[in-house]
Amino acid sequence: MRPADTSDLWWRTAVIYCLDIETFQDSDGDGVGDLEGLANRIEYLAELGITCLWLMPFQPTRDLDDGYDITDFYGVDPRLGDLGHVVELLRIAHGRGMRVIIDLVVNHTSDRHPWFVAARRSTRSRYRDYYVWRDRPPRGRPKHPVFPGEEQSVWEKDERSGQYYLHSFYRHQPDLNLENPDVRAEIARIVGFWTKLGVDGFRIDAVPFLIQPPGAADETDPHAFLRELRRFAGRRAGHAVLLGEVGLPHRDQLDYFGGSETELDLQFDFVTAQTAFLAFVRGDARPLAKVLRRRPTIDVRQGWATFLRNHDELSLELLEKDERAAVFAALAPDEKQRVYGRGIVRRLAPMLGGDPRRLRLAYSLLFSLPGAPVLFYGEEIGMGEQPELGDRAAVRSPMQWDRGAYGGFSATRPSRSITGIPDSGYGPDHVNVHDQLRDPDSLLSFVQVLISRYRAAPEIAWGEFTVLDAGEHAVLAHRCRADDRAVLFLHNFSDEPRHVELKTADVGGDRLHDLLAGGAEQAEDGRFVFDLAAYAQRWLRITEMERS
Ligand code: GLC
Repeated sequence: MRPADTSDLWWRTAVIYCLDIETFQDSDGDGVGDLEGLANRIEYLAELGITCLWLMPFQPTRDLDDGYDITDFYGVDPRLGDLGHVVELLRIAHGRGMRVIIDLVVNHTSDRHPWFVAARRSTRSRYRDYYVWRDRPPRGRPKHPVFPGEEQSVWEKDERSGQYYLHSFYRHQPDLNLENPDVRAEIARIVGFWTKLGVDGFRIDAVPFLIQPPGAADETDPHAFLRELRRFAGRRAGHAVLLGEVGLPHRDQLDYFGGSETELDLQFDFVTAQTAFLAFVRGDARPLAKVLRRRPTIDVRQGWATFLRNHDELSLELLEKDERAAVFAALAPDEKQRVYGRGIVRRLAPMLGGDPRRLRLAYSLLFSLPGAPVLFYGEEIGMGEQPELGDRAAVRSPMQWDRGAYGGFSATRPSRSITGIPDSGYGPDHVNVHDQLRDPDSLLSFVQVLISRYRAAPEIAWGEFTVLDAGEHAVLAHRCRADDRAVLFLHNFSDEPRHVELKTADVGGDRLHDLLAGGAEQAEDGRFVFDLAAYAQRWLRITEMERS
């Protein structure tokens, strides 16, 4: 684990922070966040310990899916700034040792993208075949739209030609045709452009949809595209990372890491995220222990991007039916908090009742699991959702910097509400960066500590991972070990205290140093005894290791 061996694979230990420029910081008082505003906040993120920013789409857009409907892959939404601002931002972030990755949204374009406009205008256009057309909606391979209720079908009739085009998401997001080599060349140019400008990689949107459009010829190997993309990105920027959104069970995700040749370097770990919420709800660590024990081993160059919440709904699709029902009932009692029959449009803090003990448990878990942890902006202060913004937008309200008017986000009323429901307890008066930075007991201070401990313990991301038997259903005990270093973690999911005993032989040492609370524990009679308070978490460095 010497830096000489590991630093090329920086993504294995990255601390990633996802944000939407539009809702982060407004610098010119028009109520919309912008690149300059973000640049002014890089210092804050660096102090927090973030090592990699993930910028949600900022290109020109029709803005019908919060920027995930791009009209020009080479531009910047004029409300946010211009390419010059992007370069400045990259310079400032890099100056603070922070990498920057951006969303690569190439499963589809906006229907206002010039390619689609041309494709629609004439069936003879060279852009016609950039999209997927059929004379009638094909049978077989039933495909449901990703947003049921909002879309009935993935095929939309184009009145002019009478043909149907494919849209896996909204009808205003026609799917690109990856079978067409010209489209693949366009994607390569987009990747080439942004890497040349200085971005350090891409969060690839909707990967399974991207590579496996229905109707693709059977003999096509959809994964060939990802391998090709990985090779290309590597040639253009050796250090560039490809982080993929693949919302599938672990075993299916393996295909997307690739075999002898890498496809994706990092993938979000959706299964673990969903199971963590089940564990929070049931006060039971067993489902999580099971999932983590079975999580497939992947190549040393690759990793899991761990997270709890993101900008989309908290999907529960990968849970069993009864598990999903339990999480829905506990965390989204109101029908309006649920979307698409599969997910919850809430932020983490209110879901856990704003209980500081539960929030600490959740984030301690996140930073203790092997992988690159990903925070969604505002999580570090425990922001709440704003249901009146509607569906997924509920979790995308402006960042809350201080108690000032509009939460310090803007000098004018933001384009999106910031006040929330009166007395929600999560508005800027209650939850903001300024106050929490000055409070050593705040969630923000705790997250800062977790990040620094995570960064100082590379064995979390690099080491051998073992789930120990804690002998208590509510307690997850796990250990990360590499070379002569190891950390033991304990998390009590119960609202009651729990008593745990671990044998030194299982722990692998007989002295422990507490990385969060300070102090040491010495084993007695070959075992450690822990009295864990409700929702307690412990990070314990094993200081006297037994030889393995
Ligand atoms: C991804 C994004 C989501 C977006 C969709 C279509 O799932 O995370 O926000 O709506 O792709 O681009």
